[in-house]
Amino acid sequence: MVVGKPFLTVEQIQKKNRELAARISADYRGKDLLAVGILKGAFIFFSDLVRLIQVPLTIDFLIASSYMKTETSGEIRLHYNIRENIADKDVLLVEDIVDTGITLNYLRERILNEEPRSLRICTFLDKKERREVDVPIDYVGFEIPNEFVVGYGLDYDNRFRNLPYISVFKKTA
Ligand code: IMP
Ligand code: MG
Repeated sequence: MVVGKPFLTVEQIQKKNRELAARISADYRGKDLLAVGILKGAFIFFSDLVRLIQVPLTIDFLIASSYMKTETSGEIRLHYNIRENIADKDVLLVEDIVDTGITLNYLRERILNEEPRSLRICTFLDKKERREVDVPIDYVGFEIPNEFVVGYGLDYDNRFRNLPYISVFKKTA
């Protein structure tokens, strides 16, 4: 297993987070923002992002899993759901990466069923060419090619999440 040089550096990540947070802060002025981090993958991006957002907010989390190693199982399991009442909230779902879109589509439908005041989606990375389900995304950090990446919260087999940058992961025989 090989983890290469940074594909996105700490500096690039920080700059992008400031841009995303500035847009989100402008869009949510006067609203009742509930930022929801999707665990585990989004935990680092989420904590960086919320600290840069300049409007009052509350936070909650979801724990969902769909991935088996580098192959998606296509089946989503929800291990922890939002505990906050979302009826009068402007919910912002925060994800690490959108690949096929199956996970986010499932979570989005579930949340919409509970009728929040509004729902938007923010993802740090978007592997657009892999999309199977069309899911609307409001804030995208970086569009990336079809490579398996790790670091900055993203894992291979629950490892490499603590790398401070994003790196392409290559599996060796
Ligand atoms: P989707 O349901 O196919 O969009 O898969 C989304 C989930 O797959 C993400 O939340 C990640 O946990 C995982 N995933 C997709 N691509 C990668 C990758 O390149 N590195 C690490 N995890 C990934
Ligand atoms: Mg994930």
